[in-house]
This record gives sequence, C-alpha cells and structure tokens, in this order.
Amino acid sequence: MSYSIQEINNSTVLEAKGLTRRFGGLVAVNNVSFDVKKHEIFGLIGPNGAGKTTLFNLMTALIPPSGGQLIYQGKEISQLRPYQIAGLGIARTFQNIRLFGELSALENVIIGGHLHTKTGMLKGVLGLRSALKEEYNSRQRALELLHLVGLSDRTEEKAKNFAYGDQRRLEIARALALKPQILLLDEPAAGMNPSEKQQLSEFIRNLRESFNLTIILIEHHVPLVMGLCDRIAVLDFGQLIALGKPSVVRDDPAVIEAYLGNA
Ligand SMILES: Nc1ncnc2c1ncn2[C@@H]1O[C@H](COP(=O)(O)OP(=O)(O)O)[C@@H](O)[C@H]1O
Ligand SMILES: [Mg+2]
Repeated sequence: MSYSIQEINNSTVLEAKGLTRRFGGLVAVNNVSFDVKKHEIFGLIGPNGAGKTTLFNLMTALIPPSGGQLIYQGKEISQLRPYQIAGLGIARTFQNIRLFGELSALENVIIGGHLHTKTGMLKGVLGLRSALKEEYNSRQRALELLHLVGLSDRTEEKAKNFAYGDQRRLEIARALALKPQILLLDEPAAGMNPSEKQQLSEFIRNLRESFNLTIILIEHHVPLVMGLCDRIAVLDFGQLIALGKPSVVRDDPAVIEAYLGNA
C-alpha cells in the first residue's frame, strides 16, 4: 500500500514562517513560508545556490535564522540546539556526505542512534547489565537498518571504502537510527548510478511506510522529484517561487523560467 495525496493527514508537522538567513550581504533564504503535512513526501527544488541546503541547515539548527520562525508540532524550535532538534525527531542526511570514514558501517549507524540509548557514563558503570543490554539493542537495531538499506553483508567494512551510492544509503540508515519523525534528505540521488536512482523512489516510499515518516527531499533529478513528491516547493535566489502538486509546479511559468527550462 502506498499513500496517495488524499490519505495524507492534513495536520501540519513543520511550518516555516518568514524564515530568513543572511550571510553578510547575501540573503540565502529570503522570507520563506511553507508547511509540511504529516506523512508527506515534500520536495525542495531549485537551481544551485538557491538556498535549499541552507534551509535544511536552519531546520536542523546547524545555523540560526536571521529572522522568521520554525514551528515543529506546534512548538517554536528556531532557538534550539542541533541535539535538541535531533531529540525531537528531525534527522537528516548531508549533500556532502558526513560519515566517520574510519569507522565501520555498523559503528556509524550505532552512533546515529546514540541519542536514544539512555546509558550515560555513570549509569554505564553502575548498571553494567542494563548498559550491555542497551548496547546489544543498539547493535541489533543498527543491523536491521543496514539490512533495510541493502548493506547487511558489509557491516564491518569501513565507511570510506563504500561507493558513493552506498555511502548515501549508509547515511540514511544512520539517520533512521535516531528514530525520526521527519527525515530530511539532501540530494540522496547524487552520485548514484541510473539503476540506483530508479530504485531510490521506491525505497523512499517504503521508508515512509515502514517508519511512518514525513520526508523532505532536496533533489535535482527532476523525474524522480516529480514522480515521488506529494508537493514541491521551488526556491530561487532564496525565495519561494512556487509551491504545490508536481503537476501544477511543472507548468508554472516562473518555475520553467528559473529552473525546469534548463534542467
Ligand atoms: N556558511 C555559509 N557562508 C556563506 N555563504 C553561504 C554559506 N552557506 C551557504 N552560503 C551561500 O548561500 C547560498 C545558498 O547556498 P545553498 O543553501 O548551499 O544552496 P543550494 O543547496 O540550493 O545549492 C549560496 O550563494 C551559498 O554560497
Ligand atoms: Mg545544496
């Protein structure tokens, strides 16, 4: 079963209100407002330098906004720290992959779930049994996630030895270890070969289904975005120039001018 647009719950999970981020004189994200519904696959497209990754960096608190607000499940989150955002269930992957290259695939995923293990240092010493149990659980879960992304036969290999497409899948497994409600994917198809790209749509749909996720996706591969996303937001020079269903966005003259015409 896959979700159709009608089945998407109408409740808003994440809302940007007039979100703005300046870098010196450059307005990378300029007064952007949109809402993301629960269970939506929400696409974010636009030319290079449009501000897409900056928007993700704002949503995950890697950088603070210069103005505006981010509301997650009714709560203002713009002033939180990255670990707090992660703790609230917003996880991401990076356009420039950020794995621990010297660590194994398994270790990378276990670290991703770190926030969800209760055992602190002291508790680890005092309650060895529960610490061991927790470690066992983290490991089991990480193995399951690696299986899910198709890497179960390479769990002990160093991340740096993985091909690009496999690193992207490993990053997704790591993000899922956080048990997120919202998963932000920054150009997940980049570096994948054509057959991997083709499988990616189905894979992302299955993720939504299996983990009950809301997914926000930055992607350049237009057919993938059009076929996969329930709604698409288009950024150009930091501004939101269109927002709607793929069929509507595709025919929007401003979008064609800014982006699709030369895609
Ligand atoms: N940390 C930063 N410092 C200065 N400028 C930045 C920084 N991050 C992004 N920018 C600039 O903001 C604009 C938007 O970048 P980015 O969000 O990476 O675009 P996109 O992901 O859409 O390609 C670009 O002009 C980029 O050079
Ligand atoms: Mg980017």
